[in-house]
Amino acid sequence: MPTSDTHSPTGRPVHVACIMDGNGRWANRRNLPRTEGHTEGEENLARLVRVAVTRNVGWLTVFGFSTENWVRPRGEVRHILGLHKKLFGRVAELNELNVRIQWMGRPFDLPEARTPKYVQRAIRRAIRDTAKNTGMVLTVAFDYGSHAEMVHAAQLAATQGPVDEAAIERNLYLPDLPPVDVLVRTSGELRISNFMLWQSAGSEVYFTERPWPEFDAAELDAALLLVR
Ligand code: IPE
Ligand code: IPE
Ligand code: MG
Repeated sequence: MPTSDTHSPTGRPVHVACIMDGNGRWANRRNLPRTEGHTEGEENLARLVRVAVTRNVGWLTVFGFSTENWVRPRGEVRHILGLHKKLFGRVAELNELNVRIQWMGRPFDLPEARTPKYVQRAIRRAIRDTAKNTGMVLTVAFDYGSHAEMVHAAQLAATQGPVDEAAIERNLYLPDLPPVDVLVRTSGELRISNFMLWQSAGSEVYFTERPWPEFDAAELDAALLLVR
């Protein structure tokens, strides 16, 4: 039996990582444009952050936009960019919840990085303005892909000495992020889609048919049952 509802079997607060999929299908089923699904998905993330805090989740990491997602129609991409600006603008809410926000993705100074300047600014500001919070750490993966991250880590590691597991780990985008305890994917797809392949090597996996805008407290609790 678990002795506490706040810690993973390893004794530290739980790390939950979510592949937030199914916004488009959620909207399609309602005869709404896909963009409405993304808007609702962002709102749901804000709701889920509140719930996760009450469950004493230590780290919540979410896949917001992948290195592969740039090929989507321009209007959809623009809408999703705006939603990330909005998400990183939720500083007052995050401070009220004592949540520290982070970002991970292709570093802004790399030639292949795609995060536009106005989103970079929102990200930098949110990181700065929530840096002192000591509660849950919310990490948003944007312009993120695990392959790009591992290649980047390997390249850096090679300049430092022997490339072993510890060297790769030290050079991941966010080396302080603990291993994922439970990886969630919504909307019925049984794929990992290039998300945190290194960090999820030993994690439990929770798949649900529900699309992301409907991933609620009961769903989070079901996922947490896998690790508590
Ligand atoms: C997830 O929802 C959001 C992003 C990938 C940005 P989708 O947009 O992939 O929704 P579906 O899979 O088409 O339903
Ligand atoms: C994964 O969802 C990426 C995000 C949730 C940001 P996708 O909808 O892009 O994944 P695939 O293309 O179906 O694998
Ligand atoms: Mg999808």
